[in-house]
This record gives sequence, structure tokens and C-alpha cells, in this order.
Amino acid sequence: MKTPRMIHHAAYMTWNMPETIKFYTEVLKFKLVEHFEEERLPSTGDPFPYFHAFFELPDGSVIAFFEVPSLPNPEPRGAIDKLFVHLAFVVDSLEDLYTAKAELEKCGHSVVGITDHSAFKSIYFYDPNGLRLEFACQVRALTEEDSHRAYQAAAEWAIKREKILMAKA
Ligand SMILES: [Fe+2]
Repeated sequence: MKTPRMIHHAAYMTWNMPETIKFYTEVLKFKLVEHFEEERLPSTGDPFPYFHAFFELPDGSVIAFFEVPSLPNPEPRGAIDKLFVHLAFVVDSLEDLYTAKAELEKCGHSVVGITDHSAFKSIYFYDPNGLRLEFACQVRALTEEDSHRAYQAAAEWAIKREKILMAKA
């Protein structure tokens, strides 16, 4: 298999499409570029009437949302969704990062950060669906050494996680 070249789109759920469109087009200033409105899922034929909206970033990458009003509302979000699952976007400068933080806070969004991850600095906030978003500004390029250390750490983690899992059991 040839390695796919880039992400075509990433799709998430919304429980309020109008609010989601307003947030992504007016606050984050992405462009609404495409939509599907169907009575059934084309991939499986499941009978869920839905609206699917696609938002494009300046580099052509796309994120998308489904609203399926007939499905039950989701369970309250736990730590996994609140803190770990997230989507990160590139901002080009620290100035842009600080400006984004200030503008989001001005719009009433609670922002965590600026957090220093060494190679990049980040802010974190939530979209109207509770999806955790990150703006990240790369402050140095990643090197082969970073990659080498990551492979090494992953091998060590494979051992460490076994101990944590055994302690949990
Ligand atoms: Fe991240």
C-alpha cells in the first residue's frame, strides 16, 4: 500500500449545526465549502437523516461535522474527551497565538495555555460541541534526533504500560 499523502478530512459530531457553522466560520474564520444532506448514510444505508458540513482551512485541509438529530444525545463527556482527544491547528507565529488567545477569550471562550511543549507552544479551548481544539505554533523544526528519541521512548513505554496495567488490574 502506498502511504496516503495527507488528511482529506476529519469528521466529528455536532449537536447544533447552526452554532457549529457560526463558530467555525465566524470565530475561527474557516470557509464552509461543501455540504451533504441525506436521508440515509451513503456508506452503509443506515436511515439517519443528517446534515454534513465541510470547513476548509487556508492550506486546503478540511474538517467536517455531522448533525443527526434523530440520534440520542451523547453521554456526558469524561476525561478522555475533555482532556485527551483533540484536534490541533497550526498558527504561524507566537504573535498569532497570543492574538488568538485574546480574541477567543474576548468571545467568551475559556482558553488554557500558552503551554510550552518545547518544539511548539499551544493553547487549548473547546468548540461548541465540547471538541477540544488546539492552536499550535512550531518554535523549532523537528529533527531526525527527535524521531529517533520517539521510537526509543515508544519501546520503553511498551514495558512501562504493562506495569501500569498490571497495577490497575
Ligand atoms: Fe496536541
